[in-house]
Amino acid sequence: MEKLSEGAESILYAAEIAGIPAVVKDRVVKSYRARALDDEIRSRRTKSEARILARASAAGVKVPKVLMLGEHQIFIERLDGGTLNAIVQEGKAKKEQLEWIFLESGRRLAELHALDIAHGDYTPANIMVSSSGVFVIDFGLAEVTKSSEEKALDLLLMKRSVSRKLYRIFLSSYSATFSDAEAITERLEEIEKRGRYQTRTLVTG
Ligand SMILES: Nc1ncnc2c1ncn2[C@@H]1O[C@H](COP(=O)(O)OP(=O)(O)O)[C@@H](O)[C@H]1O
Ligand SMILES: [Mg+2]
Repeated sequence: MEKLSEGAESILYAAEIAGIPAVVKDRVVKSYRARALDDEIRSRRTKSEARILARASAAGVKVPKVLMLGEHQIFIERLDGGTLNAIVQEGKAKKEQLEWIFLESGRRLAELHALDIAHGDYTPANIMVSSSGVFVIDFGLAEVTKSSEEKALDLLLMKRSVSRKLYRIFLSSYSATFSDAEAITERLEEIEKRGRYQTRTLVTG
């Protein structure tokens, strides 16, 4: 299988299921953990990611569909296109196109938060721009929660990952889409005043 990406926890391969283009996200063995514990952790995270993807999918949010679930592997619908991170880095996108993508990214987060899904790693590296729209990927750190703190942290991470201007565009559609947005942005201000999470720096890639 062709390797698409290798992260700290998982390797992604291109695959095909019954002719449908897929990716396999395979959570790799961490040899520093005792084997039984490692198996359990990988299994738990795999199930959690699949469950949250399914929850978002069922509500009509643009996330890739789960095609099949193994003990430590998820087979996910393969999207065409690339990550928003790659698009921003390349610097070739037209201004209007980039603005539209950030408006859509704000909408996607609003839709997830309305379902009480906090993403946990909402950066341009985990947003894909495909021919059928702007999709959210990588629910490996996601949680189902009502916590405004967790939701505010999604905003904070995006804020720290992009220019002020793009963040403002992102936030405008987030606020217009999510009825509870004001409470979340207030929480964000409070977090920033507290000065917590300053060591949570950005990991994109
Ligand atoms: N459904 C998908 N379709 C196409 N490419 C994908 C898909 N999911 C992930 N990728 C590619 O694999 C990379 C890593 O996937 P991701 O789920 O973010 O794993 P990690 O936890 O390692 O960050 C992404 O940045 C993207 O380039
Ligand atoms: Mg990722």
